[in-house]
Amino acid sequence: MPTRQMLLSINDVTKVFTIGGGFHRARLKAVDQASFALEKGKPEIFTLAGESGCGKTTLAKIVLGLLEPTEGVVLYNGTSVQELAQGDQRSRFNKEVQAVFQNPFETFNPLRPVDTYLLETARNYVTNGTNGAAKDAVAEALHLVGISYEGVERKYPHEFSGGQLQRISIARALITGPSLIIADEPVSMVDASLKMSVCNLFKVLKEEHKVSVIYITHDLATAYYVSDRIAIMFRGNIVELGPVNAVLVDPKHPYTQILKDSVPEPDPDNKWAGRIKLSSFEERDFLRKGCKFAGRCPQVKDICEQQDPPMINLGDVMVRCHLYA
Ligand SMILES: Nc1ncnc2c1ncn2[C@@H]1O[C@H](COP(=O)(O)OP(=O)(O)OP(=O)(O)O)[C@@H](O)[C@H]1O
Ligand SMILES: [Mg+2]
Repeated sequence: MPTRQMLLSINDVTKVFTIGGGFHRARLKAVDQASFALEKGKPEIFTLAGESGCGKTTLAKIVLGLLEPTEGVVLYNGTSVQELAQGDQRSRFNKEVQAVFQNPFETFNPLRPVDTYLLETARNYVTNGTNGAAKDAVAEALHLVGISYEGVERKYPHEFSGGQLQRISIARALITGPSLIIADEPVSMVDASLKMSVCNLFKVLKEEHKVSVIYITHDLATAYYVSDRIAIMFRGNIVELGPVNAVLVDPKHPYTQILKDSVPEPDPDNKWAGRIKLSSFEERDFLRKGCKFAGRCPQVKDICEQQDPPMINLGDVMVRCHLYA
């Protein structure tokens, strides 16, 4: 695939952390040979899903240029984000690629009215300092998330609910007119009743404003509802990737099959059950030989213990599993 037609292209990205000290020192592959790409001019909602510790946030930070990959490269419009994040193109990259985080109360300074924060973003990125134009840009972004400028004027973060404040932090991200928003668990702290409205907002951004979204979640129900494509991560690897219907309705990887069974219906109130916390012993197992899921796989074969499974192309869907070799 020619990279110049890609908005974002993540090529064989691996991130190794050294954990512990002395005798217990170990190398942990938080992200292991992850690859996917978002096409330019074809906005979509791409979900990265997986249980706690599988490497979602680490991959997001690499895409944002906040962390350096140990191996591999991330290209934004054909240029390495590492280069973009450091060079004089930093400001343009920051404008085009925006992040929305899990806790909106951490996005805003608690001691500052939120409108001053939004106005500052507008002055820095859009309007070269003019107050009237900055206010217009803020009002327009707030309008997109269904909030009036008067609704935020002189108000502090604690005067909003988590859901409202998350909408405002999405508005903040929209002020710069981004092509890509990376939203890391954006609804996990939002009331169940407001989750869908935030998810719907991502759909509107994609459909009406041509913004691509990388939606990071451990919640398969909202993922099913909102995504075009989904990548399932397990201990650093993307183990299955494809259109959300194919992956969640007819999963190919034994891990995705088990996950799917833990969410019987795509019901927004039904959270992904069975989150598994890795023990420190298992963390060292991140570097085990062969397939990382072999120890839990109901369909395990000898080869799974010996060899890393390759990513296999099944047409629409890619799956990292020896069963399909
Ligand atoms: N700076 C770091 N140093 C060492 N280990 C790290 C560091 N950051 C993350 N890790 C480890 O890398 C693995 C992946 O972490 P990451 O935060 O990317 O997972 P996640 O999928 O975002 O999890 P969650 O759903 O809990 O947010 C975890 O085992 C984590 O402990
Ligand atoms: Mg995370």
